[in-house]
Amino acid sequence: MLPVRLTGARETLLVTLYGRALDARAAHPVLGDTMAAEAVDAIDYDFGAAHVKPGVAASVVVRAKFLDNWVHEFLDAHPGEATVVHLGAGLDTRVWRIDPGPGVDWFDVDFPEVVEIRRALFPERPGYHAIGASVTDDGWLERIPTGRPTLVIAEGLSMYLTEEEGVTLLRRITDRFNGGTTIAFDAFNSLAIRAQKLNPAIRVSGATLHWSVDHPRDLIRAVPGLRLRDSIDALFAPGTEEMPRGSKIFASAFRPFPAVRHMSRYLRYER
Ligand SMILES: C[S@@+](CC[C@H](N)C(=O)[O-])C[C@H]1O[C@@H](n2cnc3c(N)ncnc32)[C@H](O)[C@@H]1O
Repeated sequence: MLPVRLTGARETLLVTLYGRALDARAAHPVLGDTMAAEAVDAIDYDFGAAHVKPGVAASVVVRAKFLDNWVHEFLDAHPGEATVVHLGAGLDTRVWRIDPGPGVDWFDVDFPEVVEIRRALFPERPGYHAIGASVTDDGWLERIPTGRPTLVIAEGLSMYLTEEEGVTLLRRITDRFNGGTTIAFDAFNSLAIRAQKLNPAIRVSGATLHWSVDHPRDLIRAVPGLRLRDSIDALFAPGTEEMPRGSKIFASAFRPFPAVRHMSRYLRYER
């Protein structure tokens, strides 16, 4: 077994990994990420400590599947050479779920100690690169080639950054890549940030969430060159029909309340 000792934002990746593993072991998986289940079996960590309930595990896999579909859409639209940059990848096996063709270079970026665990758990594959860095560091972005259609995707990352870090990151991405760039990520609003202690990943890790995006169009003003393509409420996004009944009842009861409706959104911008 691989001993894994992470704290703060880094530890939260174990909760999302566990959510995908629980789904993979279910009778009728939504995502079916069997590599996640194998990774959980290989890691020495108290996965029970976060008390991940079925609704939380379902929200993790429904989000992953939704964002996987945006990756597929991007790669279908750019069938030749393309680049995918997956920020805050944690121990997500997205590159295997998507299984991109030979023209695609795929970069997973996360803290160096997280990338070290990835290397111990997962095999290499052609076109795949893991970069150990904070997304707020200088330098890692220069390792990504330019001049090809590029998708930058992040799942469960933006809220761990401060607003200044998030906006600076978006500006650096739009400065580096010209037209043909898509940037997709999930973002919390200020109510979700205020309610963060209800989130099991936060409770177990002691991490703090910071950045709220209440008005997705504000980022267009803050980041020159960005266009908003989609803003989709996660509570009602395609795929949420797979959520447990209790979660669906919660969602429909709170549908009239914008602050709850917009607690988590999938945002897709283009450059
Ligand atoms: C909730 S986990 C999500 C992990 C993965 N995307 C998933 O869905 O399983 C948050 C991830 O963001 C990473 N993270 C947080 N702040 C970061 C930063 N400044 N630079 C790189 N990664 C960061 C953490 O290490 C962790 O892997």
